[in-house]
Amino acid sequence: MKFGYFDDLNREYVITQPDTPLPWINYLGCQAYFGIISNTAGGYSFYRDARLRRLTRYRYNNVPMDFGGRYIYLRDDESKEFWSPSWQPTRHELEDYSCRHGMGYTVIGSSYSGIEAHTRYFVPLDENLEIWQLTVTNKRATKASISAFSSIEFCLWDAQDDATNFQRNFNTGQVEVEDGVIYHKTEYRERRDHFAYFACSEPGAGFDTQREAFLGRYRSWDKPATVEAGQLTNSIAHGWSPIGAHQVKLDLEPGETRQIVFVLGYHENPKDQKFDPAGSQIINKKLVKPTIAKYLDPKNADAAFEQLRQYWESLLGIFQVSTPDIHTNRMVNIWNAYQCMATFNMSRSASFYESGIGRGLGFRDSNQDLLGFVHMAPARARERILDLAATQLPTGGAYHQYQPLTKRGNNDIGGGFNDDPHWLIIGVSAYLKETGDWSILDEPVQYDNEPGSEQPLYDHLQRSFHYTLARLGPHGLPLIGRADWNDCLNLNCFSDTPGQSFQTTTNKEGKVAESVFIAGLFVHAGRELAAIANRRVLGAEAASYLAEAAKMESVILEHGWDGEWFLRAYNDFGGKIGSKECEEGKIFIESNGYCTLAGIGLEDGKAASALAAVGEHLATKHGIVVQQPAYTRYYIEMGEISSYPPGYKENAGVFCHVNPWVMIGETRLGHGDLAHDYYSRINPSAREEIGDLHRCEPYVYAQMIAGKDASTFGEAKNSWLTGTAAWNYYAIAQWILGIRTALDGLEIAPVIPTSWPGFTATRSYRGVVYKISIERKGEGNQIALTVDGSEIKGNIVPPPTDGRKEVTVTGILS
Ligand code: BGC
Ligand code: NOJ
Repeated sequence: MKFGYFDDLNREYVITQPDTPLPWINYLGCQAYFGIISNTAGGYSFYRDARLRRLTRYRYNNVPMDFGGRYIYLRDDESKEFWSPSWQPTRHELEDYSCRHGMGYTVIGSSYSGIEAHTRYFVPLDENLEIWQLTVTNKRATKASISAFSSIEFCLWDAQDDATNFQRNFNTGQVEVEDGVIYHKTEYRERRDHFAYFACSEPGAGFDTQREAFLGRYRSWDKPATVEAGQLTNSIAHGWSPIGAHQVKLDLEPGETRQIVFVLGYHENPKDQKFDPAGSQIINKKLVKPTIAKYLDPKNADAAFEQLRQYWESLLGIFQVSTPDIHTNRMVNIWNAYQCMATFNMSRSASFYESGIGRGLGFRDSNQDLLGFVHMAPARARERILDLAATQLPTGGAYHQYQPLTKRGNNDIGGGFNDDPHWLIIGVSAYLKETGDWSILDEPVQYDNEPGSEQPLYDHLQRSFHYTLARLGPHGLPLIGRADWNDCLNLNCFSDTPGQSFQTTTNKEGKVAESVFIAGLFVHAGRELAAIANRRVLGAEAASYLAEAAKMESVILEHGWDGEWFLRAYNDFGGKIGSKECEEGKIFIESNGYCTLAGIGLEDGKAASALAAVGEHLATKHGIVVQQPAYTRYYIEMGEISSYPPGYKENAGVFCHVNPWVMIGETRLGHGDLAHDYYSRINPSAREEIGDLHRCEPYVYAQMIAGKDASTFGEAKNSWLTGTAAWNYYAIAQWILGIRTALDGLEIAPVIPTSWPGFTATRSYRGVVYKISIERKGEGNQIALTVDGSEIKGNIVPPPTDGRKEVTVTGILS
């Protein structure tokens, strides 16, 4: 069952039924001011940090599911009936409801009793504000008297404190109202120099800023007393819960359309200009007023919207494909790229499942996110890499997370996740391949943000590599530390205390448990680093990386091989994990996916055997599960993985993030059919038809789909903020379609389904537009390339040195 449809031409997903199985959200903003908006206008806004600068309040895990947001009410002042054009919060019956989620904007609207209304929500580029453009049309044959109300609930900035510290917070709320603009200024009188504002383009018939005055006692947002009565009360909040609400009266002739613009924004004043007049306690509004006035003018709002549209047009234009598969096309051309921007911006902080108060930016997560993002905004990727590297520790290890506002490592979580440092090498390598900007390697970067500790970025990569060499276990495999990529395989934790953190508790010394996955990652990172070292004319050093990688490869083949597939790990007793010998958890996806991705066992058939085993034991129609058989009880020596009921999350759920490792592995074996088949099983667009089972948004990946052991097999959870976005984008673009960035140029090496006659693509790369067309003449993956009519040797097409800004590349597959 579907709940809407893709409008590919307009790059929108159109939801046609408001009660979707879960709130289906979109992101507003892509720089500093952000908002989450659901298909019924639920959600909240924040400036930079979802925890520390929350502008509007939201209650997670609410009843109903998604309650609180950017709500508009309309009231027929004759019949006294009122409703919300976005369905929530009144849930009044509606006609023609639709929600169009687009690139950085959302339009929600409907009709009721001859009154058509829709609101376009978006954040203009380079501004710290959001615009709501409400358009109301009278479709009746008679005049209509309508009151329109806007509403939001302010958050007292720190979302964590706001949700817990009521003894203080019920006393601090303050607002000012001037010329109809509502200014929320809680704590401005003391240490804050920022405030929020909520403005309306039309002369108001009233406002409210005190929640209870607006809603009435014991009422909720679905039935505010003031909206019911048709008159706001001009309340001024003192303590309790400040809100913002405007009322505008519209007398509409038959056929008449009116637009009202609301602007919700954030402003910081210089510390010495906080008050006006100086010495008073009144907010200085001089600096913000021109911005407010600008965007209340519908012409300027429209122009800002057009700029946003063009911005996305140019970002998405960097890579466009046309293949025989519509799901591939729309994910690559639109939604997967769009999701990569969201994961880059948010990391894992704020979604419908991440409350914005939990985590900072993950070291491994953000490095991997670069794989899907670097081509869209290389300058921002560069900055991110340098920020991440500055939180690296002198040992070469890394803080597992850092806080975006302070850019410092997070001490609560600390380090010791032994895969972390290698992702920096992978991230930097992706950046170099995209940009050819070798200067980044010479950038001085601190360790642990300590002034004076600066070393070139290249030194950080060296230490990342050596970190593992200094931490090898009894078999010569890397020690796992707290956990590797699979955060829930906690081999040194041994926790029997409820509530203890699986992530940070280590009751064991950690000198025994080893990870075959890290070993595969080490081989991959080592070879990437060797290629980088060669470019720096460090031949001997490069050779040593290759030698260490080769050595590790043979250790894997000796101690990390279980006969038919790669082992996953050794536990603290030296026992095997992910082996035939195990009772449960006999085979895991991570080591088998990553070792093959890294090219281990390609020559001697081990890679083929491992992936055949993955196909046999782990692949399901809803994707490839993490391991089998699922753990049915708690294993103290394995930790969180066995804390989940079978089929969920790391305990044998389909963890979408790691599925692409297998897809890439399959391309390395030349299996285009299977690689694309795996790709399609978790492709959200391809799952649109089973929306009532999948339940999450059909336009973005979810972190997890319940595995075959779960009674909800096929149900997705944790949509939006997941490494899945970057890895699937990378797998389809660079390995299946095979348009792959290399250090010296664009490599063209498709491994596509045999049934495809070919495909075309446009890729902007280092300032040159590559027009690529691939034609299949035989069933294999051999490619012969012609560039601007001349045949070339090999399959790397360097950007032309003669000033050409466009090249035509033709590839014949045989
Ligand atoms: C989740 C993991 C996550 C970890 C750290 C665990 O509960 O299952 O997916 O990486 O928490 O946030
Ligand atoms: C989500 C975390 O953000 C990521 O770091 C981890 O690798 C996966 N879960 C798997 O456990």
